[in-house]
Amino acid sequence: MAEAVPFPILYSFRTSLRCVPFASLQPFAPRVSLNPKGITLQHKVPAGLDRKEAEIYRQFDPGRLPRHIAIIMDGNGRWAKRRHMPRVAGHRAGVAAVRSTVETAARVGIHALTLYAFAEENWKKRPKSEVDFLMRLLSRYLKAEVPTLNKNNIRLEYIGRQQQLPEDVQERMEWARASTSHNSGTVLTLALNYSARSELVDAFRSMVHAASQNGGIEHLHIDEDTVGEHLYTRHLPDPDLVVRTSGEMRLSNFLLWQLAYAEIYVTPTLWPDFRGVHLLEAIAEYQKRERRYGGLNHGDAHTNGEPAKAHK
Ligand code: FPP
Repeated sequence: MAEAVPFPILYSFRTSLRCVPFASLQPFAPRVSLNPKGITLQHKVPAGLDRKEAEIYRQFDPGRLPRHIAIIMDGNGRWAKRRHMPRVAGHRAGVAAVRSTVETAARVGIHALTLYAFAEENWKKRPKSEVDFLMRLLSRYLKAEVPTLNKNNIRLEYIGRQQQLPEDVQERMEWARASTSHNSGTVLTLALNYSARSELVDAFRSMVHAASQNGGIEHLHIDEDTVGEHLYTRHLPDPDLVVRTSGEMRLSNFLLWQLAYAEIYVTPTLWPDFRGVHLLEAIAEYQKRERRYGGLNHGDAHTNGEPAKAHK
């Protein structure tokens, strides 16, 4: 049975709570909550979260945050169309969504965030003017954002066939990567000119090349770890959570190998309207899921007398 909390203690906590300003104004202030079992201290709210973000964060189990979140940013064109604006206005508005999402991820301590910014297929299927606009937007974003990335201890990386991007964009990318390389917090990876199938093709080529440098093809040994070491994402753990905006139920050639066991979260929110608070909502949903990795539900493991086998 729950222990009764003496009235004076309850009273004094209530009274003092009334005087305490909102927790988000007090970075890392422990929160006191009253429940039938008595008084418990909740985990600290990271500095910089706004009121809504702090509210969601308080419900988190901080020990079960996804280590790596991948996002398919979608809906820029529709966002613009609804406002009778050109498609590129949606891309421009998408930059604010990138900024907010990246900062919130860093504040709550997400180890890795990967954003699908430019698919390899985009070259072929979009007008040159739109592609050129996206390149300029990226270049400007990188120049403007490096100080904020540094302030938030974020390290920038890229995946995709960068060598096919315009040279000036490649130079800007390299500059931004080098300028953030000393940071030890969230790894922000931008997928640029990225295609999961091309990544796998490049990984197979790279494995064959490595074998040819190391005694010849007869020494080629391939298992899952070997493939992982030759993917563009070798610097990252596999994503635990993939978020797609704008309600589409597709992976669109994004991280096909790495998302094998990821939880999928699709939101109808269009990318330009997405903010840090929506990222936290996705994490809250993730924390409700039971990840099974091909095994059984927790509690069902012994129903047939056999322990559940661990699966990758
Ligand atoms: C998908 O929307 C989005 C893109 C192809 C580009 C993503 C770019 C940004 C969010 C802005 C810049 C990014 C960085 C990293 C600076 P869509 O055009 O396919 O939308 P639709 O499906 O509604 O047409």
